[in-house]
Order: sequence, then structure tokens, then C-alpha cells
Amino acid sequence: MKYNRCGRSGLLLPAVSLGLWQNFGGRDLDQRMKEIIFRAFDSGITHFDLANNYGPPPGSAEENFGKILRANLGAYRDELIISTKAGYLMWDGPYGEWGSRKYLLASLDQSLKRLGLEYVDIFYSHRPDPETPLAETMMALHTAVWQGKAIYAGISNYDPEQTAEAVEILEQLGTPCLIHQPRYNLFDRWVEDGLLDVLENKGIGCIPFSPLAQGLLTNRYLDGIPDDSRIARKSISLDEEDLDPKTMVKVKALNDHARQRGQTLAQMALSWLLNNPRVTSVLIGASSVLQLEENVKAMDHIGFTRDELAYIDNILS
Ligand SMILES: NC(=O)c1ccc[n+]([C@@H]2O[C@H](COP(=O)([O-])OP(=O)(O)OC[C@H]3O[C@@H](n4cnc5c(N)ncnc54)[C@H](OP(=O)(O)O)[C@@H]3O)[C@@H](O)[C@H]2O)c1
Repeated sequence: MKYNRCGRSGLLLPAVSLGLWQNFGGRDLDQRMKEIIFRAFDSGITHFDLANNYGPPPGSAEENFGKILRANLGAYRDELIISTKAGYLMWDGPYGEWGSRKYLLASLDQSLKRLGLEYVDIFYSHRPDPETPLAETMMALHTAVWQGKAIYAGISNYDPEQTAEAVEILEQLGTPCLIHQPRYNLFDRWVEDGLLDVLENKGIGCIPFSPLAQGLLTNRYLDGIPDDSRIARKSISLDEEDLDPKTMVKVKALNDHARQRGQTLAQMALSWLLNNPRVTSVLIGASSVLQLEENVKAMDHIGFTRDELAYIDNILS
């Protein structure tokens, strides 16, 4: 594994990190989940990303990861970077979502209980809250760090202006913003329109989520919809309509180019992100050990020629 410095902080993150948004929920921990986590850690993936609501049901991914920590990985706690977040709907009533101090700090306490941990390494504000003063949300992150319940603070889904403001508030509080977690992949490049500049100028790490566009940027849907795929499982975040003919023409052309590079499409999509020095780590999901192993090998061939990058841009335009 290659480890990259997270912005201008002291923290190194693995080039590939594993997220537990999907594939790790449910009431029971199964063998497949354990195998994916163990193989990840054995491959040098030291960073596991969670959120209060990951499951389904919400909270169950943290519970399942907590079981693995207690039974197997606890001895390696100091070798792990475990993150969690709060921002989306988690419980009933007016204090169960968004960015109030009340919600964020209560949610972190719940996450720590589910994980069976005294602290997480990174605590994120999962999304900006248009109704709560930004200073209140940032103050809650600062409090979490100051209380020792989180080592670092991060933000996710904040636009460039919100990011610049949040970073400044955190700086003034004495808790620097470590990292931003935006959606970023070959199909969704909004971060190139200002956010990456802000992050670079301020020395903040960038960990793109859904780097494979939830499986679209892999060979998963080249020949239809496999029964065990995210789309077949009726995920709310990806559906059949995402496989429209225009998209599939691009996927096939990208797949051909990946083959010419001696990579799979998934590997090329991850390499393309990691080729950007402003990207600290790619935050993948995986539903099997095989997918995880394939994705980690993206690091074997990260470089692209200028012609190749232009060719890829042309496919996407
Ligand atoms: N901050 C936020 O708002 C936010 C939002 C979304 C996600 N995230 C974070 O980002 C993480 C990753 O998100 P994501 O799961 O959408 O990432 P992704 O890497 O874009 O998609 C993962 C899915 O792609 C498929 N896949 C992965 N590798 C493959 C391969 N080699 N070949 C074929 N198919 C492959 C699998 O789908 P199948 O299940 O079909 O096999 C897998 O579940 C999450 O777990 C979470 O930690 C954060």
C-alpha cells in the first residue's frame, strides 16, 4: 500500500480506503463482511469509513464493524483510522439530523457505543445545514476533538464557499479541518470547479467517495444487471435508469481503453483519481474480496500520458 499525506497534516492515509455505506448492514455480522475487512487490512488499508446511518438498518454497519473490532481487530486499534459522520436522518424528532450541536454530539456518542470505541479518528459533518449557523456546526466538531472523542475533524458535501468558511472557523477554534469527503469520479467532476483549489490552498486532504460511481465505472453492468448487484438489490441510490444508452457507450469506451492500459475499468477509474496529487485516498465500496483485491491493484499503474487523459476527456465529453 502507498500512504499519502492528508493535506498538510501529520496524518498519512492509504491510497485506497474502504467505506461501509453498503454491504455491511443487517442485524447479523456475516463471514463475507469479515473476510472483506480482513483482506483490506492485510492489504494495507488502514482506513475504514463509517457514518451513523450506514446499514440498513441505520447504525448496523457501525454495530457490525464494532463486533469485528472487539473480536478481531481491537489489538490493532493504533494501526487503524476509523471515521464516522453525522448529518443525515438518524432518529425521530427535531434533533435527529442536520448540523445542530445537540444532534452532532449526541450522534457521536451513539456511534462510539455502537463501535465499542472511546474515540474515532475522524468525525465529519456529513452535509452542510442551511438552517444552522456554520459556526455552531464547526464548534460541535471542535468540541468532539477537544473532548477526546475524535482525533480529527472533517467535512463532507460542502461546496467551495462553505468549505472555505468552515475551514476558517475551525482554524480560529484551534481544530484544523483535516479532510473533505466529496463525491468525485470520472462521471462526476464538480470538485474540479473550485473545491480542489480551496482544499489545496488550505492544505486539506481530499478523499473522494463513490470513485466507481457505485459500480457503473466497473465491468459490473457491461452485460446487463447481475442478480447480486447494487441495482438488482434495489438500492435507492442507483437504479436501472442510470444505465442509459449514452452512459453505457461511455462505459464501454472507457472499458476498452482500460484494457489497452492493461487494467480493468475499476482499476483505471481509481488510478485516474489517484493520478491527481490533490487526491489523498480513494474511498471505495466492495461487496466481495475479489472486488477489493482488484481495486487495490489500481495502484500498480497510476500514471497516465497527456494523450491518454485527453482521450478519456473526449470519451466523457
Ligand atoms: N460522504 C457521503 O455523503 C458519502 C456518500 C456515499 C458514499 N460515501 C462513502 O464512500 C464509500 C464508497 O461509496 P460507494 O460504495 O458508492 O463506492 P464505489 O466504489 O463507487 O462503489 C462500490 C460498489 O461498486 C461495485 N464494485 C466495486 N468494485 C468493483 C469491481 N472491482 N468490479 C465490479 N464491481 C465493483 C460494488 O457493487 P455491487 O454491490 O453491485 O457488487 C460495490 O458495492 C461508502 O462506503 C462511504 O464510506 C460517502
